[in-house]
Amino acid sequence: MKLAIIGYGKMGKEIERFALTRGHKVILKVDKDNPDQLSSGELERADVALEFTTPGTAESNINACFRAGVPVVCGTTGWMERLGEVERMCKEMNQAFFYASNFSIGVNIMFRLNSWLAGVMNRFPEYEPRLTEVHHIHKKDSPSGTAITLAEGITGNIDRKNNWINKESGQENLLSVISERKGEVPGTHVITYSSPLDVLEISHRALSRSVFASGAVMAAEFIAGKKGVFKMNDLLDI
Ligand SMILES: NC(=O)c1ccc[n+]([C@@H]2O[C@H](COP(=O)([O-])OP(=O)(O)OC[C@H]3O[C@@H](n4cnc5c(N)ncnc54)[C@H](O)[C@@H]3O)[C@@H](O)[C@H]2O)c1
Repeated sequence: MKLAIIGYGKMGKEIERFALTRGHKVILKVDKDNPDQLSSGELERADVALEFTTPGTAESNINACFRAGVPVVCGTTGWMERLGEVERMCKEMNQAFFYASNFSIGVNIMFRLNSWLAGVMNRFPEYEPRLTEVHHIHKKDSPSGTAITLAEGITGNIDRKNNWINKESGQENLLSVISERKGEVPGTHVITYSSPLDVLEISHRALSRSVFASGAVMAAEFIAGKKGVFKMNDLLDI
């Protein structure tokens, strides 16, 4: 496939490296110094665009792909309040859009496990849930998009928690979501259920950014030639 990479930062470079090993070609790289390349006509030649930039730039980049008729895989986090509108535009313009706040297969299995576990824990109020996420110091959004999805999986299934807060909550009805920023950690998410007698824990640790890049390239291979709005569940069938 011919790919366009929008956002040639840490993820963009990792995606390029992985895409080349899968036999794809990168025909366009757009970063903040050459955004006009998005309207140069070059984008139209791509089979799929992969968008990993910043919360403030994702939406306009995705719209540029829709206008060019190029399916877009987006992993940029921190702009979820606009996601519904982008999905609406995708359908209205009959384009293709694949979004995931986390492209790792392991994390997407953890999303399922988390919702199921929270449903079970609804019956055991002696267990207090808590979510911790650790990421590298360059991350712009906090909590992570993955942590928000996990937190919603808990609050949506445990009656005694009706919302989450991004600090130690100290309140019965609010789930504590703790964000830590350390060195170059690619992404760790830990859910603990603590009772006075024991602790049950599920966790996911990304070992490098390659796990997200490989998932994003798989998503690009999946979306090529399709129309509509897609998520990891469509790709993984879990
Ligand atoms: N969904 C996932 O699995 C996943 C995994 C890792 C990171 N991310 C997210 O992906 C995004 C990028 O992460 P990163 O680690 O590569 O960050 P980064 O800061 O290394 O790279 C972002 C790049 O976007 C460029 N950019 C800024 N404005 C732009 C514009 N208007 N047009 C084109 N490029 C522009 C920046 O110059 C930079 O090179 C973040 O939101 C991060 O949270 C998602």
